[in-house]
Amino acid sequence: MFSGLCGEQGNYKNLVCGKWKSGKSGKTIAIISPLDGSVFGHVPAMSMEEADEAIRLARETQKSWRAVPVNKRSEILLRAADILEREADTLANILLREIAKDTKSALSEVTRTADFIRFTADAVKNMTGESIPGDSFPGFDRDKISVVTREPLGVVLAISPFNYPINLAASKIAPAVAAGNTVVVKPATQGSISTLHLARVFEEAGLPAGVLNTMTGRGSEIGDKIVTHPEIDFINFTGSTEVGQHIASLVSMKPYLMELGGKDAAVVLEDCDMDLTVNNIVSGAYSYSGQRCTAVKRILVMESIADEMVKRLKAKIERLSTGNPLEKPDATVVPLINGAAADYVCGLIEDAKQKGAVLVTGGDRNGNLISPALFDKVTTEMRLAWEEPFGPVLPVIRVRSYEEAIAIANKSEYGLQSAVFTQDINKAFYVAERLEVGTVQINNKTERGPDHFPFLGVKSSGLGTQGIKYSIEAMSRPKAIVINLRRS
Ligand code: NAP
Ligand code: G3H
Repeated sequence: MFSGLCGEQGNYKNLVCGKWKSGKSGKTIAIISPLDGSVFGHVPAMSMEEADEAIRLARETQKSWRAVPVNKRSEILLRAADILEREADTLANILLREIAKDTKSALSEVTRTADFIRFTADAVKNMTGESIPGDSFPGFDRDKISVVTREPLGVVLAISPFNYPINLAASKIAPAVAAGNTVVVKPATQGSISTLHLARVFEEAGLPAGVLNTMTGRGSEIGDKIVTHPEIDFINFTGSTEVGQHIASLVSMKPYLMELGGKDAAVVLEDCDMDLTVNNIVSGAYSYSGQRCTAVKRILVMESIADEMVKRLKAKIERLSTGNPLEKPDATVVPLINGAAADYVCGLIEDAKQKGAVLVTGGDRNGNLISPALFDKVTTEMRLAWEEPFGPVLPVIRVRSYEEAIAIANKSEYGLQSAVFTQDINKAFYVAERLEVGTVQINNKTERGPDHFPFLGVKSSGLGTQGIKYSIEAMSRPKAIVINLRRS
C-alpha cells in the first residue's frame, strides 16, 4: 500500500496537494538509522519556494474541506484508523529502524494511534454548539438568541518531534482535519520517513488532495520561515523547550499550542506500596531509553525508605533488557537517537559523579547505547537534578519532609507531570494539589494516555491543552450568530 511515496533507492517524496513530489532542487537529507549507522532513506530538503506552494494549496483546499459534512470527515478518519491497524507491523518496523524504537513501544505507538483517530472520528460527531438566550444578562429581553457553532481556524502547521513520529503527528492531524482545517505537517527530520507513511495512510483513506500536506527539511533551515508564514493560521508544536521558546519569540498575532520538555518527578512517601512504586518508576523512566516527554526523570523519596527503594530499583533495573532491538526484540533500553544525545547524557552522568552522587548501577556507553543508570544521593547542585536527559539515567534525591519534596519538585523550570506514591489518599491529595504541573498521577508512572484525557504542561513545559476533545477545540473557534426577534 505504500507505493508512490518512495522512488528508487529509498528517495522519499512529499505529499503536496495529492501528489507525491521530489524536491525541485534535488537536495535531500540522508536519514541514518541509529541502530547501525546505515542509510535508511533520503527525504527532500524542501525549499522555501516549495513550502510556500504547499501552504498556498492547503489554504485553497480549506475552502472546500470546511464545507464537507462532519459525518464524511469522520468516515475518512475511521478508514485511516483501519488502515493503520492493518499495516501496524510494517509501520512498527519502520519506527524501529528509523528512530530505534523498541519493538513493543513501536507496535503500541501504531495501534494507539489507530485508537486515537477512531476516537477523534467519534468525538467530532458528538461536538455540539449552544444557544444562549439574551435575557439572562441584565437589561436584555427575550428577543436575542446567540447561536454558537465552531469554525475551523484555516491552515494548521503541525510540527512533530522525533520520538513519536506517527502518534504525535496524527494527534495533531486528526483533530485538525476533523475540525475542518487543512494541515501542513513538518515532521522531525529523524522520523520523517515514518510520518510520510502516515500521510500515505490518510491518502489511502480518502482524505482529499490538499487537506494534508507534508514538508520535510531541517527545522534549522526552514523552521523560522514557516512558523512566521502569513498563511499559517495555527501552529501545533511538540518538541524541546528550547525550540518552542524560539518559535514563541518569532510569532505574533498567531495562536499556537506547545507541548515541550519535562522533568517529571516521582514523589515517594513512607507508606507507599513499594512493589508497585518500583515497577512504575522503572517502566516510567527507562522504556524507549527514557526518550519520552513524560518519562520519570527524578525521584524525590522520603529518607526513611530510600535505602530499601534504591536496593529494589537496582535489582529491577539490572534485569532490564538492553541492546539493539534488531538483535534483541525484547530490549526496552535501546540506542539513543544519535551521538549528540548520548554525549549529552554522558555529560550529566560525569557531572553527577564529580559532584559526589553515588552511581548505583549502569551508565556504561557503547556507541549510542547507554546502560540504564541510577544515581543515589543526588543533590540540587547537580545538573541531573534539573536538566532533562532524554536518556536512561535517573536521579534519586532524598528528602526529609513532604514540604521539601514539593519545594524541589516546584523549583524546576518544567511543569509537565508528577507522580505521587502513597496508600493514603489524603496525603496524595495534599501533595498533588501543591505540585505545579499539568497532571499528577497517583500511584502510577507519569504518562500521557489515555488520549482523551487533557494533556498539558505548565511553565516551560508548554502552553495550551491537547487531548482529543481539547485538541479539536484548540484548533477551532466559536462563531456566534445572533438572532434578533421582532416581537410585535
Ligand atoms: P526538537 O529538537 O525541539 O524538534 C522538534 C521539531 O521542531 C522537529 O520537527 C524539528 O525539526 C523542529 N524544529 C527545529 N528547529 C525549528 C525551528 N526553528 N522552527 C520550527 N521548527 C523547528 O525536539 P526533538 O529532539 O525532536 O524532541 C525531543 C523533545 O521534545 C524533548 O525535549 C521532549 O521532552 C519534547 N517532547 C515533548 C512532548 C510533550 O508532549 N510535552 C512530547 C514529545 C516530545 P528538525 O528535526 O528538522 O530539527
Ligand atoms: O514524549 C511524549 C509523549 O507524548 C509521551 O507519551 O507517556 O504515552 O509515552 P507517553
